[in-house]
Amino acid sequence: MKKLSLALLLVSCVSACGDSPVTTLSTFATDSAAQAQAMGVSHGEYVARLGNCVACHSVPEGQPLAGGLKMAVPMLGNIYTTNITPDPVNGIGQYSFEEFDRVMRSGVARDGHRLYPAMPYPSYAKMSEQDMRALFDFLMNEVEPANTPNPPSEITGIKSARWPLAVWNFITVDDDPYTPDSAQSDLWNRGAYLIQGLGHCGACHTPRGLMMQEKALDGDDSGYLSGAPLDHWTASSLNGDINSGLGRWSEDDIVEFLESGHNRFGTAFGTMVEVINNSTRHMSDDDLRGMATYLKSLPAVNERSATPYAYDNGATQQLVSLDFSTPGARVYYEYCSNCHVTSGNGYYPYQPPLAGNPVVMDPDPSSLINLTLNGSLRVVAEGGPDVNDMPYFRQLLDDQDIADALTFIRSSWGNKAPAVSAAQVTEIRTATDPSRNDDIQVLRMK
Ligand code: HEC
Ligand code: HEC
Ligand code: HEC
Repeated sequence: MKKLSLALLLVSCVSACGDSPVTTLSTFATDSAAQAQAMGVSHGEYVARLGNCVACHSVPEGQPLAGGLKMAVPMLGNIYTTNITPDPVNGIGQYSFEEFDRVMRSGVARDGHRLYPAMPYPSYAKMSEQDMRALFDFLMNEVEPANTPNPPSEITGIKSARWPLAVWNFITVDDDPYTPDSAQSDLWNRGAYLIQGLGHCGACHTPRGLMMQEKALDGDDSGYLSGAPLDHWTASSLNGDINSGLGRWSEDDIVEFLESGHNRFGTAFGTMVEVINNSTRHMSDDDLRGMATYLKSLPAVNERSATPYAYDNGATQQLVSLDFSTPGARVYYEYCSNCHVTSGNGYYPYQPPLAGNPVVMDPDPSSLINLTLNGSLRVVAEGGPDVNDMPYFRQLLDDQDIADALTFIRSSWGNKAPAVSAAQVTEIRTATDPSRNDDIQVLRMK
């Protein structure tokens, strides 16, 4: 595998390298080993962190990687993640490397049954052979076996037939490992490998098509990482969209966000917190830099010709003079402004700004509604949990108040985004469970 990718690069370099940014032969396929060493963990443990296996295959009170997390499969019902410890009865102890490779790339388990794509194998298929072998060694030799049995799926009757997944796979899944683009730098290729592959960022950030497939699996198709709703959160656009994507972020801003959970534009919340707590904050500086390089190369999709955000202090003037004529201004002043400030600029790095924040300008307000109703898990970085936390307003504010406050922040300080209706808030209030609020969730792997 290593030989193959090196050979491919050599061939393409003859014609394409010249004075292009490619300086050395890519070793991205083996970089995980070097990065793991830099981070002081085994190659396989590092790969498991890159793939964030623990976020889905563990429950907070349970043994690491013993499964049991409930996941919804749209239109069908709920399934549970499985035990992937080396236990021979309930775990994956009897898998050979070849069987493991097949389930990780094609979603076909040892006994032949097909996995729902809730397991992100369409992304993991891009893994290099070295990383796959290291991951297998880690699971088999470093993880403690757990005899926790797998809860049965709650999908019953005719819907439980798994054969349609074969058709799904046939139409949507490409199980070839990542092939480097020789016109791009090593860092870019490493970033693309992590984002499209192990990081499975598109599983949340790419819109899904009619068959629940991600509409695009790499940057060659527009729509890739252009933002999508999942579990009542919206994973915002990660491409060059100027106001609601990463168009105004620098590479340093991206690195800081993935490492610490905040930057000058905002703070992580919702399902992104699990990604940061259990995966990206364990990544090396080189790997974070690679991902930032790749993300910054993605062009805008939804906002090709939007007017770039510019701060406007009209709302600030209004609030400081206690002019509450705009709906939502009073709710904001009373319930939000002591943290997010009348200027909408927050207090970096403790309270995020709302002015110019891409998430606030996301066309889909689900994340904002969910966060305001229910709060969020806490980011853990730099040695401890973030003491600053968004309070939840489920009991304090009714649906109209929340809709007004969110409409206010989406149209103040230069922000421009559609209004939020009380009906949208009601829908998310009914569908969500506030009990997760205030949790600190950091999962051990062994
Ligand atoms: C987004 C959630 C998610 C992530 C992340 C995830 N998995 Fe899974 N995985 C699942 C679900 C759900 C299933 C069960 C699917 C089913 O029953 O159809 C599963 C099943 C599996 C199986 C099949 C076991 C068996 O025979 O039943 C293996 C092996 C596996 N995952 C390994 C991994 C590894 C290794 C990683 C990290 C690189 C990982 N998974 C990351 C959700 C996830
Ligand atoms: C006690 C301080 C505090 C108050 C009061 C508060 N927030 Fe927050 N808010 C935060 C913190 C801290 C975050 C970062 C996410 C987290 O850590 O939970 C946040 C995040 C947000 C975000 C997401 C922005 C981002 O990038 O993280 C929005 C939108 C938001 N708050 C809106 C509101 C609204 C609307 C109100 C009033 C109804 C409000 N907040 C009241 C502290 C506060
Ligand atoms: C489990 C779902 C999920 C996965 C997987 C995921 N994200 Fe996110 N991400 C979200 C959600 C939801 C948000 C919006 C809340 C926020 O800003 O924290 C988000 C926000 C972000 C933001 C901030 C965008 C902004 O405008 O504020 C960045 C950057 C980001 N994700 C990068 C990544 C990268 C890189 C990966 C892959 C390594 C990834 N995400 C994987 C759910 C996910």
